[in-house]
Amino acid sequence: MMLTRLKGLFSNDIGIDLGTANTLVFQKDRGIVLREPSVVAVRTGTKDVIRDGVGLEAKKMIGVTPKNITAVRPMKDGVIADFEITEAMLRYFIQKVHHRKIVAPRVVVAVPSGINEVERRAVKDSVTHAGAREVHLIEQPMAAAIGAGLPVEEPAANMVVDIGGGTSEIAIISLAGIVESISLRVGGDQFDDTITNHLKREHNLNIGLRTAEEIKLRIGSAYPLDEEMTMEVKGRDVAKGLPKTLTIGSEEVREALQKPLSSILESIRSCLEQCPAELSGDLVDRGIVMAGGGALLRGIDRLVSKETGLPVTIADEPLIAVAEGTGRTLQNIDILFRVASY
Ligand SMILES: Nc1ncnc2c1ncn2[C@@H]1O[C@H](COP(=O)(O)OP(=O)(O)OP(=O)(O)O)[C@@H](O)[C@H]1O
Ligand SMILES: [Mg+2]
Repeated sequence: MMLTRLKGLFSNDIGIDLGTANTLVFQKDRGIVLREPSVVAVRTGTKDVIRDGVGLEAKKMIGVTPKNITAVRPMKDGVIADFEITEAMLRYFIQKVHHRKIVAPRVVVAVPSGINEVERRAVKDSVTHAGAREVHLIEQPMAAAIGAGLPVEEPAANMVVDIGGGTSEIAIISLAGIVESISLRVGGDQFDDTITNHLKREHNLNIGLRTAEEIKLRIGSAYPLDEEMTMEVKGRDVAKGLPKTLTIGSEEVREALQKPLSSILESIRSCLEQCPAELSGDLVDRGIVMAGGGALLRGIDRLVSKETGLPVTIADEPLIAVAEGTGRTLQNIDILFRVASY
């Protein structure tokens, strides 16, 4: 009893996947303890966070808030767009998992590999202000690879493609280091945007952000489906301004997704081209592992495999791979010190 209590006191170290779409917190010895959208509800025109208006509660408010409340996403394109609000969100999440523990936690945060020194500093400061004793940063593709169970410390190539909400991170890893990486600001959000634009242009239909995401989840795909699907979509007629309903098919949605998908494929190709030949050879057998919510888009593995000629697998739980990776580094401090970036 005493021991358990003591353990609870000390093992409060946490790993955070600070994502554009979702924030996850992994607590040492416990696993994933928090998983919420990176959304904050504030009083319009201010940075005053609405009481308990963080995460899931705030996401429900997107597009349906009264005028005096705005639901904002403080992270955009994989980086912090609003420091103050990000900090408020982190503080809320850390306190939520931390309860009233006496010892401030050591925190590992997974950040996009493309962020600059100023952005790195900002993440560290936010987490420190939010109550951390010690902050370590690791790059998201490294965390994704560790979380997906890849043998990152071996002297052989491991390749990960993490398609998140705001960014896609592509990396080749060997000997616990990133050999080549590309971070592009294209992800699930752009998929939603292209669907919105397509409906507006081709069908004069205005739809909200939530509807666009729902279309992607229900009938979106990257590769022809065995059985194509249709879906009824409700929105507002651009010209008449009145509510309107229409039916769209999965082929049409796939067509609309071509552009962001080809940017991702292009980056995968250039990452492979820049990879040293020796390591390139390893990938013929080891292939590519995909993570992030975008890895759940139907047929994306088949598309990437067809375009690269390499075997592609999807991480067991692509949405939690990065958080799992931060967690494994907490369980094994040696790995943390080998892979942390400063
Ligand atoms: N089944 C699915 N099919 C297609 N897309 C999905 C699916 N499930 C989730 N997504 C998309 O995945 C994205 C969120 O993924 P994830 O949580 O990995 O992003 P993130 O880590 O918050 O963002 P980033 O890594 O860019 O900062 C959203 O755009 C969401 O719509
Ligand atoms: Mg992510």
